[in-house]
Amino acid sequence: MTQDELKALVGQAALQYVVPGEIVGVGTGSTVNKFIDALATMKDRLPGAVSSSEASTQRLQALGIRVFDANEVEELSVYIDGADEIDDQGYMVKGGGAALTREKIVAAQSRRFVCIADESKRVPVLGRFPLPVEVIPMAVGRITRQFARMGGTARLRTRDGHPLVTDNGQQILDVIGLQIRDPLGFEGEVSQWPGVVTVGVFAHQKASVCLLGTASGVQTLN
Ligand code: 5RP
Repeated sequence: MTQDELKALVGQAALQYVVPGEIVGVGTGSTVNKFIDALATMKDRLPGAVSSSEASTQRLQALGIRVFDANEVEELSVYIDGADEIDDQGYMVKGGGAALTREKIVAAQSRRFVCIADESKRVPVLGRFPLPVEVIPMAVGRITRQFARMGGTARLRTRDGHPLVTDNGQQILDVIGLQIRDPLGFEGEVSQWPGVVTVGVFAHQKASVCLLGTASGVQTLN
């Protein structure tokens, strides 16, 4: 099976976690796009979704799924999203699609986080994928130096030769060279640095369940 087929497999499998009659939290990325396409088949049984990015909002709306503002909803039963890395404890690195801040917000207001990913995303220790960190532009230099003191090299993410601007009007640093052996401690520490909007380690909002697409089918990790 191709990686694209594995993504479609887990996107479809995630439908079993969607509660008919309830608003669903929707993440961002190519795997989530497969989930959104599958979700359209049950749109008549759903009030709609809370979305984690402008890109997902557009896709949901194009398929006729209503998108609610996060502030209109107190709690969601389930949030479905992909990951750039996931370890055996359900700790993740996210933000490859630059949507990490809104993803963490929607995850935090959801009782259950269902991660959908192909098996290439599974790692023993977080840190292989460059760690995305959303930052306030005036703090880029200072935060880059703080990561250097930890042994990491931070690079400003660009698009078309210019710094990428997130849905929140901020920038992204991608940090290589880190081995994140204590995801909870790391997330807590980096989140405190002035100018950090969101660090892409999802430890406090870890996955409750992971649907992993493998050559032999969907593997469910709890
Ligand atoms: C976006 C994310 C995505 O969930 C993550 O990058 C995985 O994306 P894909 O499913 O395309 O591999 O965190 O900010």
